[in-house]
Amino acid sequence: MTIKALAFDAYGTIFDVHSVIAMCEAFFPGRGPALSQLWRSKQLEYTWLRSLMGAYEDFWHITEAGLVFACESLGLQLTGDKRARLMDAYLHLSPYPDVAPALKRLQHLPLAILSNGAPRMLSDVVANANLGTDFTHLLSVDSVKIFKPHCSVYQLAPDTFDVAVQEIGFVSSNGWDIAGAAHFGFRTFWINRNNQPPEALGAAPYRIVSTLQDVADELQNVS
Ligand code: LAC
Repeated sequence: MTIKALAFDAYGTIFDVHSVIAMCEAFFPGRGPALSQLWRSKQLEYTWLRSLMGAYEDFWHITEAGLVFACESLGLQLTGDKRARLMDAYLHLSPYPDVAPALKRLQHLPLAILSNGAPRMLSDVVANANLGTDFTHLLSVDSVKIFKPHCSVYQLAPDTFDVAVQEIGFVSSNGWDIAGAAHFGFRTFWINRNNQPPEALGAAPYRIVSTLQDVADELQNVS
């Protein structure tokens, strides 16, 4: 069956969440990588916990809460100014170098971002990376008020594209997101940027690739 549309995860897949390390390091010398790592871990953990709690707050709030916890946990003094500047850095994350050229090769397909990100976070980060014209849709979990990997999030893609679930390719570097998307029924392309084993969640990826260019190699002639 042909893939007729593609949906992409944003954070970790299109955008390098660890491009905040430089600012973390400038504010807290020697602690940049540890802060960036814990910040991201807590951010994801809070999405899952709030989903289970039935206590949705948007991803901007969650990201800030993760930053506050990470700094407290590491004993770092987070002033109001540092907090505001680190949060602003989340709107200016760097795209991975393979992203822009691969998206150009995939323009024959409808392309959406399907992300935990709040709508303003997604529109800003995409615009700041000059990727605004590459996507037909920016789909945020905010319209269903629960986070990935809840099925109602993935359902946004077939509802938007108006194509069958199995005809949608879903691209993510987050193994847990790939497991959720495969369980939902998408054809998943796992960009295994961190050389991780597949999550043992009973839903195997359709393809395991190294970069977004590999996805373009497979799909560039499909229309
Ligand atoms: C996202 C997170 C999961 O963009 O990376 O949805």
